[in-house]
Amino acid sequence: MATVNDNYLKLKAGYLFPEIARRVNAFAQANPDAKIIRLGIGDVTEPLPAACRTAMIQAVEEMGDRNTFRGYGPEQGYAWLREKIAAQDFQARGAEIDASEIFISDGSKCDTGNILEIFGHNNTIAVTDPVYPVYVDTNVMAGNTGVANEQGEFAGLVYLPISADNNFTAEIPSQKVDLIYLCFPNNPTGATATKEYLKAWVDYAKDHGSIIFFDAAYEAYITDPALPHSIYEIAGARECAIEFRSFSKNAGFTGTRCALTVVPKTLTAKAADGSDVELWKLWNRRQSTKFNGVSYIVQRGAEAVYSPEGQTQIKELVSFYLDNARIIREKLSAAKLAVYGGVNAPYVWVKTPNSLSSWEFFDKLLQTVNVVGTPGSGFGAAGEGYFRISAFNSRENVEEAMQRITNHFI
Ligand code: MLT
Repeated sequence: MATVNDNYLKLKAGYLFPEIARRVNAFAQANPDAKIIRLGIGDVTEPLPAACRTAMIQAVEEMGDRNTFRGYGPEQGYAWLREKIAAQDFQARGAEIDASEIFISDGSKCDTGNILEIFGHNNTIAVTDPVYPVYVDTNVMAGNTGVANEQGEFAGLVYLPISADNNFTAEIPSQKVDLIYLCFPNNPTGATATKEYLKAWVDYAKDHGSIIFFDAAYEAYITDPALPHSIYEIAGARECAIEFRSFSKNAGFTGTRCALTVVPKTLTAKAADGSDVELWKLWNRRQSTKFNGVSYIVQRGAEAVYSPEGQTQIKELVSFYLDNARIIREKLSAAKLAVYGGVNAPYVWVKTPNSLSSWEFFDKLLQTVNVVGTPGSGFGAAGEGYFRISAFNSRENVEEAMQRITNHFI
């Protein structure tokens, strides 16, 4: 008789966002006239930048001509895209990343999960609480945890609480952890990290032989010029960090799919025999075995992000969503709600009013004003009593949603 991966049975039945969609769809079916506004999942709504579309259209034409047709591309991604990323996203900011250390992929969600394949099962793993749920669930699937307690915390993981008391930045642990997930600008709280803060983590990781998984999917939303966009802006990070980036949130590629992972060649971890192994070699081996690259057309679209027009257009797109975030912050503050984030990030993290639980507030907003957000408890036990509102929607919908909420709460 075949058996299953029992680790999957430790998970809650549904992943957070499909579970929200299920509840919203049930409400919509029961209330067909309700005009529901979705500020839950961080999915972009505005069209792809013109520079990306033009490049993709041209790439489609090339695929229609035998002379310019392409079959399998390099598993690591085309050099012309990786070189532009290395130069403009990293070297221009003083981060010494070479094109050969960049791996193009179809998403940071996939890569933050897949990266676990090249690590052993006896690592001590730290996540913040609240946290992007993929980091936790993929560790559960990989068998790196025990079962969950009543609060949903998995045995074997180290949870680093983040709250308003520590500016939503985890304290450096006193114990030794081997793998640490950091996400800045933060999903879900919208918090940011200073260079000094990241340096403290890099120093910790180097002292303990730990690896930091740095998720920079929202780096384009940093408006404060003093804040780092990449962990490689911090000296020593090449020896202790893997960085994940995405075209989803800066260029609207959530449906188009393109991202990248940086694995510096200077990064090592221990084999069972005590020898040092280059992580780049393992990730390269993994990708060339299990992945055949992102489509040529999509990579040409991503390349266009680095053209002068592309740069202007993605800045406009990001500013548009940041203006939405500002409107959300201002309106909710005026409604006397405590709000965090939303300045250097597309997420606003809200304290639920009247001691409502996160899911109670979710139900209340859905039922009374037909607005969808994400319950903070879905991101971890310490997210209970909070609620995340995403700035990814049209201006009209954001204004309408805020009007409905303020009318109801003021
Ligand atoms: C979110 O809402 O947290 C995002 O959609 C996460 C993601 O990009 O997968």
